[in-house]
Amino acid sequence: MNDELIQHARQVLSDNDRGTYTVPTHGLYPFQWNWDSALSALGFAHFDEPRAWTEIETLMAHQWDDGMVPHIIFHQLDDGYFPGPGVWATNRSVPTSGITQPPVAGFAVRRIHDRAADKALATRKAKKLLPKIHAWHQWFYRCRDPQGTGLVALLHPWESGRDNSVDWDDAFERVPTEGVGSFTRRDTTHANPAHRPTDEQYRRYIWLVQKFRSLGWDNTLLHDASPFKVVDPGFNAILIRSCEDVADLAGRLGLTEIAAQSRAMAEKGITAMESLWSETLGQYQCYDRAASKPIDSPSIGGILAAFAPIPKARAAALTDRIEALAKACNYLVPSHDPTAPEFDGLRYWRGPVWLIVNYMIADGLQRAGQFSMANRIRADSVRLIEHSGFAEYHDPITAEPCGGAHFTWTAAMVIEIFSTYEVAA
Ligand code: DGY
Repeated sequence: MNDELIQHARQVLSDNDRGTYTVPTHGLYPFQWNWDSALSALGFAHFDEPRAWTEIETLMAHQWDDGMVPHIIFHQLDDGYFPGPGVWATNRSVPTSGITQPPVAGFAVRRIHDRAADKALATRKAKKLLPKIHAWHQWFYRCRDPQGTGLVALLHPWESGRDNSVDWDDAFERVPTEGVGSFTRRDTTHANPAHRPTDEQYRRYIWLVQKFRSLGWDNTLLHDASPFKVVDPGFNAILIRSCEDVADLAGRLGLTEIAAQSRAMAEKGITAMESLWSETLGQYQCYDRAASKPIDSPSIGGILAAFAPIPKARAAALTDRIEALAKACNYLVPSHDPTAPEFDGLRYWRGPVWLIVNYMIADGLQRAGQFSMANRIRADSVRLIEHSGFAEYHDPITAEPCGGAHFTWTAAMVIEIFSTYEVAA
């Protein structure tokens, strides 16, 4: 059964492979997405190491001069997606979006390097990639944390990767929709509209894009100018973990300055994360930087924090929290608490399970010694795929497959999980 699933997963990856990059899925997402690529490289690495490195190299080749790595690279024209390059208008030879996404590439590079059969190739590739990834991390702390708090803010829900999370609802109310003009969504022609964000949310997404475009995508201006500025523990955890991984690998490869700077960023971040802990929720929570107040929302963002080297006691408390969520669903880990009134088991990041997030949470819990919960999350992930296939995300109660089908990073996670861990049945 495992072999069959792995073969199927490899087929998904090769069907979505465009040579030097992979699309998340045909139709719905016809370009290269940032964190999709980095996580998909983990899957490729198990059967084609050069191809895994190419995936990350292609992503980093489109880094901006200021260090930002965009969330979409529009390698070829495709009018089946909105908003396309004309809406972003970032004025680059190969068009890109103008915002970023969770910086998981640092983690991926270290993991692929550590396991590489071809160590010489891995070392050559990593030595070229690490300075670029480090520049991206520095960009985050410079442009998204101008006050030096140790925590970076997201300026657009799309940056979080958790586009329509309940976490953003209140803060998003402050984003106007006047003057946005009319547009036609394309996502709802590829996926069930009940699985996707609402039209109202799309108007606000586009308002922010237009605002940033009017500022010439100048990252020295965007943070202060944006009415949406949210600190997400999950996002910060990914950044901190990547800084830590870059520090470790750079140290081993003799890149001592990068190692020292990365270590310092990770340590500052981990200390600052403590301010996001909510005793009431028993997990981390987001912080609305524009309104200067915590966001009291029981989402997976505060559980994904386990991916960072948080204190052991916090990891144990997150395990308790996941135990509580398990009582309200059949498959861990729901992206929103099923007992909360806003929960919607089908709608993107307002309830469904995402395998990539499961993988990162399990990885962090495992590092913190929470072995049994880490195994349980991986076992639930596999059960979901066996039951419902390689969908983009799944309903945590019914296992209904949602969003796009034949999904690259879902397949990559299946390969990664089976090839790396003993998965309890
Ligand atoms: C989408 O189009 O749904 C993406 O998540 C935005 O990057």
